[in-house]
Amino acid sequence: MNATESAIQIPRPAHFEAPLTRLPAALSEAEKQSLNTRIKQLLKQQNAVLVAHYYVDADTQALAEDTGGFISDSLEMARFGQQHPATTLIVAGVRFMGETAKILSPDKRVLMPTLEAECSLDLSCPAEDFSAFCDAHPDHTVVVYANTSAAVKARADWVVTSSIAVNVVEHLTAQGKKIIWAPDKYLGHYVERVTGADMLRWQGACVVHEEFKSQGLHELKAQHPEAGILVHPESPADVIAMADVVGSTSQLIKAVSELPHPSFIVATDKGIFYKMQQQAPHKTLLEAPTAGDGATCRSCAHCPWMAMNSLENILHSLETGQNEIHVDAALGQKAMIPLNRMLGFSQRK
Ligand code: 13P
Ligand code: SF4
Repeated sequence: MNATESAIQIPRPAHFEAPLTRLPAALSEAEKQSLNTRIKQLLKQQNAVLVAHYYVDADTQALAEDTGGFISDSLEMARFGQQHPATTLIVAGVRFMGETAKILSPDKRVLMPTLEAECSLDLSCPAEDFSAFCDAHPDHTVVVYANTSAAVKARADWVVTSSIAVNVVEHLTAQGKKIIWAPDKYLGHYVERVTGADMLRWQGACVVHEEFKSQGLHELKAQHPEAGILVHPESPADVIAMADVVGSTSQLIKAVSELPHPSFIVATDKGIFYKMQQQAPHKTLLEAPTAGDGATCRSCAHCPWMAMNSLENILHSLETGQNEIHVDAALGQKAMIPLNRMLGFSQRK
């Protein structure tokens, strides 16, 4: 907690119960092929495109690639959905990604494989509590992470993702702005440290990244001194402090290809290994430890909500039209303003 925060009451994040990670059912090659064939037909018939996040299962990522869809970080998912001519977007990820797609493309149909795929950051930050907090500090510019509901975005001046959070906050700090940051306390702390911003931080956390442990990381690094350490900034500060590269999912994938290290310890969701291995097949990838000796992990470096996406529920959604995302039109229009600000800002970098 920084000096300003200790003098101010920061609301407690909402309580929620995260599910345990359950992987999609293992499929035989024949089953996969049959699902893929049917999904491909429906994508074509319905003028639909599949947009997937790096954390969903490898089969879904492969299908997105194979069908002219897209796999990316949350920033580029938003941009792709907005720019692609398809009239239906099927978004394999978590709810805020589907909502963002709908806000940016209100005339498109946005389907998700499941509507149960939440995000702990989004759940930690109910719109009413957050809005009251913003109202209590009207002299602050409100910057929210993309991992929030449409209503929280609608209350914000800026939306950011991890790939541009530092740049946006730097830009605002240079203008002398004081900032309310929500919902991820670790990313907020990292951004504050790098930019020197004056920030009030919501105290949410990602259930996946919060589990990475610096003690275990030190031990693993001692066993693999040649390995580079890659860390997503939703991780605790002592884990970030050990990183060779701190960055968004796309930035970490780029680092695997570009850095000279023969191996990497990766502190983010292990779904990302599909793309990292594809881009750098000769490099060795190691999972960062999620728990010290004798402890347990709950998500174990795989997001319980990302794991709810599968080929089977993609097919189900396309066949039935179920799991369509709806965002109230007036709310969507308000949320679109900071989202478009984010997309515009990232383009001029
Ligand atoms: P990226 O924006 O880096 O893809 O991260 C999204 C996310 O949910 C990370 O946990
Ligand atoms: Fe949210 Fe963490 Fe899952 Fe990303 S990995 S969607 S931040 S819970």
